Amino acid sequence: MSILEIRGLEAGYADLQILWGVDLEVAPGTLTALVGANGAGKTTLMRAVTGQIKARSGTVTFDGDDVTGLAPHVKAERGLVMVPEGRHLFPTMSVLENLEMGATPKRARDDIEKNFDLVYELFPRLKDRLSQKAGTMSGGEQQMLAVARGIMSSPKVLMIDELSLGLAPMLVIDIFRALEKLLTTGITVLLVEQNVRLALGVSSYAYVMSEGKVEMNGPSSEIAEDEGVREAYLGI
Ligand SMILES: Nc1ncnc2c1ncn2[C@@H]1O[C@H](COP(=O)(O)OP(=O)(O)OP(=O)(O)O)[C@@H](O)[C@H]1O
Ligand SMILES: [Mg+2]
Repeated sequence: MSILEIRGLEAGYADLQILWGVDLEVAPGTLTALVGANGAGKTTLMRAVTGQIKARSGTVTFDGDDVTGLAPHVKAERGLVMVPEGRHLFPTMSVLENLEMGATPKRARDDIEKNFDLVYELFPRLKDRLSQKAGTMSGGEQQMLAVARGIMSSPKVLMIDELSLGLAPMLVIDIFRALEKLLTTGITVLLVEQNVRLALGVSSYAYVMSEGKVEMNGPSSEIAEDEGVREAYLGI
């Protein structure tokens, strides 16, 4: 049983079709990686799954229900949450206010104390900066805050677009550690990541996208051994 099941998904922008029948499944409680070259359609796939752009055909099944046509906030309310690339924080609001903004779904309001504890455990740095304006945080700190805000919404599935983009190597390690801890709480993660080596290291299953289609999928350890993947993404 998958918690997220994407079948034959087609989507794009105006008259430009980007996704050509994408099939993807995420097992509950696991971390699944989605990798692929720039422009392959990874962000577009996430947008079509959340409903930010409309699916032209295909289905998205989440937690047993067909949610394909639902609005993004309805999906978020049910626990299908995306941390977008580029963070989209409220820059003039404090760290604390940004975290509180994450906790808008009803379920999340009941869990708010527990989620604050989890966020502070994963990202102790944020706890020291609660009154700082989000826009004045460093890029890496903002990335942590964006993930933390996603956690505050009590997701069942958290989709993260470009977790490590622009982060210093030390912070990349910190944020991946936090991700591993997050998995132990039972949250399911779909991770889009440029750092293919790390993505395959932390995930149990992986999809490789190319030109709007799934080119390859399998256990991450097997994908990491594939000759084509090694040449294209791992520089081996
Ligand atoms: N808002 C938009 N309007 C028109 N075309 C878009 C829009 N957003 C993305 N595209 C196009 O869709 C294609 C897929 O882009 P997408 O952002 O999904 O790729 P990606 O796999 O996330 O790439 P990256 O690794 O660079 O983030 C690209 O050709 C891109 O130019
Ligand atoms: Mg992208």
